[in-house]
Amino acid sequence: MKGLILSGGFGTRLRPLTYTGAKQLIPIANKPIIFYGIESLVRVGIKDIGIVVGDTRDEVMSVVGDGANWNINIEYIPQESPLGLAHAIKVAREFLGNEPFMMYLGDNILKDSLDELVKQFKENHPNALILLTEVDNPQEFGVAEVDGKGNVKKLVEKPKEPPSNLALVGIYLFDNEIHKAIEHIKPSWRNELEITDAIQWLLDNGYRVESQTVKGWWKDTGKPEDIIEANLLILQDIKPDNKGEVVDSTLNGHVVVEKGAVIEKSIIRGPAIIGQNSRLSKAYVGPFSSIGANVTIENSEVECSVIMDGATIRNLENRIDRSILGRNVVINQINESPRTHKFILGDQSYVQIIK
Ligand code: TTP
Repeated sequence: MKGLILSGGFGTRLRPLTYTGAKQLIPIANKPIIFYGIESLVRVGIKDIGIVVGDTRDEVMSVVGDGANWNINIEYIPQESPLGLAHAIKVAREFLGNEPFMMYLGDNILKDSLDELVKQFKENHPNALILLTEVDNPQEFGVAEVDGKGNVKKLVEKPKEPPSNLALVGIYLFDNEIHKAIEHIKPSWRNELEITDAIQWLLDNGYRVESQTVKGWWKDTGKPEDIIEANLLILQDIKPDNKGEVVDSTLNGHVVVEKGAVIEKSIIRGPAIIGQNSRLSKAYVGPFSSIGANVTIENSEVECSVIMDGATIRNLENRIDRSILGRNVVINQINESPRTHKFILGDQSYVQIIK
């Protein structure tokens, strides 16, 4: 079975972070999101992965590489524009050949292993097998109507009156009939070739579509609050490991300190990770924080946040909470008159100040 990971798209909902980088490379617990997907596929024995890439292809290719890190083969498939999930399969047609494949959205993270999904596909030979999860707001998702045995009857995109609370998770297994389906569908109102339309075509034409429901958590990291949430979920299972230098400091709970990091006169409450060569002095880092590499935190408090490589936080009176700082961001509080704020913010930056 081959793997197809989608790593194109615009990532508009994650601006400004996605102005300067691919959303699939945003770090969760100091590891790019897409690595979680690659590792899920590798764990079920997939050795041949195609990655669909768009405008951010150079960055994705240089960070992910040719697969040697995981002992697999990775090929890159350019998509000229994000014209839909089914369009991504279309551009990957040559790579996929007639083999069955697993499609995985490169911005998704799933706790469960995919073993059960692959097992069901191999045993029952459906034409498509989709993964579903229960959600509170099915109106915002692609939703499946399923019979008692998990056979899919119908798919609806963002229904006003949802037939169930089972939303599609971004992981799918297909045999080669999906290519026929994609040949028959037309772009939707948003001018995308929708995977839900292709799967609905299979249903309408007598093909078999089965489903499986996710047991553990699943996260689509489309929006900033999803990044915070995914970071929290991944850090929950982190194992403590100290490779840095800790001086006059307290580490509580599960804390990872990477090589070259120096922590002095600070308190770190896990689960948390402090990246390579970062320097923390008189700092408090609270639960569910990922501090990247070469970060400086002095005299300041950070909690439940993702602080990316090279950022600097100094002398802040108030704690930073549930925040995302991109690479090399500087936040510095100084005691000078007049008491003014000085900002150099890119488009769509967000700042909240509490008096
Ligand atoms: P989305 O989150 O649906 O789209 P997006 O990444 O463009 O984000 P936004 O809506 O904020 O602009 O995409 C899901 C995943 O699939 C994501 O990893 C990007 C990828 N993708 C492609 O590779 N090609 C495509 O044509 C589309 C629509 C998405």
